[in-house]
Amino acid sequence: MMETAGVTLKSPKSFADYYDFPELDIMGRASEFKEYIEGNTQNRHFDYKRIALNGSAAVRQVKDNYTGETREMLYFASNDYLNLTNHARVKEAGIEALKKYGAGAGSAPLLGGTTDLHIELEKKIAKFKGCEKAIIYTSGYGSNSSSLLSMLTDKDLAIVDMLSHASLIDGCRNTNVKYFKHNDVQDLESILKKRKDSYRTKLVVIDGVYSMDGDIARLDQITAVAKHYGAYVMIDEAHATGVLGQHGRGTSEHFNLTGKIDIISGTFSKALGGVGGFVASNSDLIDLLHFYSRGYMFSSAMTPQVAGSVITALDVVEEEPQIRERLWNNINYFKKGLLHLGFDIGISETAIFPIIIGNDFLTKEICRELNIYVNPVLYPAVSKRLSRIRLSIMAEHTKEHLDTVLNALEYLGKKYQIL
Ligand SMILES: Cc1ncc(COP(=O)(O)O)c(C=O)c1O
Repeated sequence: MMETAGVTLKSPKSFADYYDFPELDIMGRASEFKEYIEGNTQNRHFDYKRIALNGSAAVRQVKDNYTGETREMLYFASNDYLNLTNHARVKEAGIEALKKYGAGAGSAPLLGGTTDLHIELEKKIAKFKGCEKAIIYTSGYGSNSSSLLSMLTDKDLAIVDMLSHASLIDGCRNTNVKYFKHNDVQDLESILKKRKDSYRTKLVVIDGVYSMDGDIARLDQITAVAKHYGAYVMIDEAHATGVLGQHGRGTSEHFNLTGKIDIISGTFSKALGGVGGFVASNSDLIDLLHFYSRGYMFSSAMTPQVAGSVITALDVVEEEPQIRERLWNNINYFKKGLLHLGFDIGISETAIFPIIIGNDFLTKEICRELNIYVNPVLYPAVSKRLSRIRLSIMAEHTKEHLDTVLNALEYLGKKYQIL
């Protein structure tokens, strides 16, 4: 134990301690986990699933989990980077689709749930990503996990960046997996070299922008190495779509590789302001996924309202580049401010900012005191020495919002001797 500014830095249990109990059945395990929630609640450290009374916006009305009072908070935890969840055209398109087609799709996509709007969205996202064809899912998690589960079996090999999103990792459960060091092209190459001819399909699996660190995949080098060793590349563009590239097409555009990536997946739930996900690739592979990807086949189609909104969101990304410009101005301003103050922001290059604290308890203390809507990222999501406060920037944040957060962080950084 250690003291920082009067706070005893305990090393209490973490989520990792409740994964399994050899002697307890599931109800027993749940009852043990209650102890963790109660302990954190006592410290006012349990701020998951806060209840907001308005939508995603720079300022939110949030119900305090402990007092029940409504608080106005600056919101620095959204993936709604371009604030399209509340864009007038995007909302209007959703309303029109809702009026025309009704509240739900009514069935699975292959069995009656597909409307002309779904087809329009498939075509639009494929073209946006420079691919022949796309398939759309009701979540980004589903697009990654379900497509991978259907593409790779025990004869194949997934070579996965060790910081890839859980949806990609979960999708590799049916196959052989080798993890390479984060964004380390040499490590990737050494794995590929050793396994050159041993597997039927070799698929390198990466994120475009990493969700906890905000850095960008070295896609140019990764694709070159993969090609050299006969491997395909699948990239998850969840946090890059709408953000990276001159037209917001993502990491492939950022590296001038539009149309050159084997498989691109992504989500409609972040910069595109909706929900759902997609996989885009060549026409043959997408046709196969339609019939073998169980998360697509055995699940109802996306609501027409979401499809309508996302179609228009893609138009907005292309037609209103000034929103992306505002986002990047904010990113650059905020980054400069954090670095000037002396915070450790890891390897962030985009709208996602980790502030590395390196102690779970202290991270939660600071988040509680900050009075700004941010999220703690703790072990086992990251290693204990890298526990952090995660902030994300939106186009709608003003300079005043950014300065307020920088000032509050400076105050707490000094108080807790992080600066
Ligand atoms: C990198 C990445 N991929 C996929 C997903 C899943 O997307 P969705 O929230 O649309 O299911 C997320 C969301 O948290 C993510 O960060």
